Amino acid sequence: VTSALPDRALILAPRGRDAQVAAGMLRETGVGTLICADIAALVAAAADGAAFAVVTEEALRTADLRPFATWLAQQPEWSDFPFILLTERGGLERNPAAGRFLETLGNVTFLERPFHPTTLVSIARAALRARHRQYDARASMMALRELSASLEERVEAATDERQAVLAQLHEAQKLETIGQLTGGVAHDFNNLLTPITAALDLMQRRYGGSDPRAGRLIGSALQSAERAKTLVQRLLGFARRQTLQTRPTDLASLITGMRDLVASSVGPMIEVRVRCEVGLPPALVDPNQLELAILNLCVNSRDAMPDGGQVRIAAERMTVDADDRLPVAPGQYLLLSVTDTGSGMDAETLARAVEPFYSTKEQGKGTGLGLSMVHGLAAQMGGGFRLESAPGEGTRADLWLPAAIDAADRRDPAAPALPMADLRPMALLLVDDEELVRNGTAEMLRDLGHSVVEAASGGEALIRLADGLPIDALVTDYKMPGMSGAELAQRLHRLRPDVPVLLITGYTGNPGEAADLARLDKPFRQADLANALARLLEPPGDAGRRGN
Ligand SMILES: Nc1ncnc2c1ncn2[C@@H]1O[C@H](COP(=O)(O)OP(=O)(O)OP(=O)(O)O)[C@@H](O)[C@H]1O
Ligand SMILES: [Mg+2]
Repeated sequence: VTSALPDRALILAPRGRDAQVAAGMLRETGVGTLICADIAALVAAAADGAAFAVVTEEALRTADLRPFATWLAQQPEWSDFPFILLTERGGLERNPAAGRFLETLGNVTFLERPFHPTTLVSIARAALRARHRQYDARASMMALRELSASLEERVEAATDERQAVLAQLHEAQKLETIGQLTGGVAHDFNNLLTPITAALDLMQRRYGGSDPRAGRLIGSALQSAERAKTLVQRLLGFARRQTLQTRPTDLASLITGMRDLVASSVGPMIEVRVRCEVGLPPALVDPNQLELAILNLCVNSRDAMPDGGQVRIAAERMTVDADDRLPVAPGQYLLLSVTDTGSGMDAETLARAVEPFYSTKEQGKGTGLGLSMVHGLAAQMGGGFRLESAPGEGTRADLWLPAAIDAADRRDPAAPALPMADLRPMALLLVDDEELVRNGTAEMLRDLGHSVVEAASGGEALIRLADGLPIDALVTDYKMPGMSGAELAQRLHRLRPDVPVLLITGYTGNPGEAADLARLDKPFRQADLANALARLLEPPGDAGRRGN
């Protein structure tokens, strides 16, 4: 920048050959020189740009200095134009106007004649250096000015971004709070549902065959209980409290496998398209829950296209970076999207769609839990969910699912379910603090031919064990006041290392604490219980009778 600014020296020395002599001396500093005839010429040249000026005292003595003063006063803020004033010996003392020059010129260095040429050269060099510092200051000021000009814009952009992040955070916190409330309610509800299902199931077995009327009644009660169970599952799903069976899953075959189910769910008016990128890595998901989520999304799409349209399910690979502003942490994902050509959503609906119980459907038609479940599931699996929609422009639902890239994730721990296992009669210790639930479970177990000793707490169970109660297995609720099921299992393990434990869970507890224990989710039916016990006593290692 400095080099672009003029580096010449101006000379105003009207007497004799003074100007030529001065120019000759200045040549040594390496700057160009311009000899000016009078003050007016000097001011004009300085205004055009110059590094400094050498002026003799007598050139100023009689001249009109006002234009000069004006120019100096109007210098830009970075500039303090340097002068070298060549004076006569004693000239200043004799000249009362000298003080006036001083004030006018500002940045002035006096050099009394006669002087040695090297003195002028060194003073000229100092003036040049001073001027260069001014040029640098000018460059910084210009940069600053540019910066401040764009500052407002940048502050605005940063503010917008911050507001967007805050809005996102607010949204997330709201959902989190609702999730906690919902989760608590769903958990209690689930506990109530367990004995209801159990009792109905037993009654169906006992009386369903002999009394067809009772059979029908019990059958429809069971159906209602099943629907309630689905609801509770969705709620637990939203609250991220469902027990997930996460495993590496090939999305392409999962989606293709669902095609017919989706097609029949959305009806013949809607075209179903499936597109999966080839060579996708497996996704680390719970395949059953993911199928449910996809189905929820497709059903929403159907409802948004009463006159038909198209729904497209697609999966592709995606690397998410920190600055992508997506609802997921940086990492490797599979992006599963369900896109429709339906009515779309207005801003308000879009903002609230994920909230549990938010539905624009007729009373009794929609629970408003479909998207809540999808959102909660995505979060619980370590992924993310986002809706994009505008009225008349259809809807796109994006699900980010974590990719299973780790070799350790590739093993498939999923054991195929047995039909209804037939086991030898066993002696079981059943522990549950809730009497209704415990009675129901005990009834199921006895009905399967096992003998059951019931205990209402971990402490009570330990007393029975200390008394020497012989058992083949322990079946215990996970969440109990005082001692949790996992803790009881640990204590039992110390007393009797060979006795297997089946943990009955309402939601994902602390997986670290009970990760290696067999589990059964509430609510369950007799067949689930029987199968869980069978798996417990015949762990996957010796899978002799296990079919596909
Ligand atoms: N694909 C879509 N197109 C247009 N609107 C949608 C779409 N998906 C969801 N919505 C809107 O979001 C609301 C909430 O959806 P959500 O799936 O959570 O509940 P629902 O569909 O109303 O009830 P349920 O899923 O229990 O039948 C819907 O009522 C609808 O207004
Ligand atoms: Mg829905």
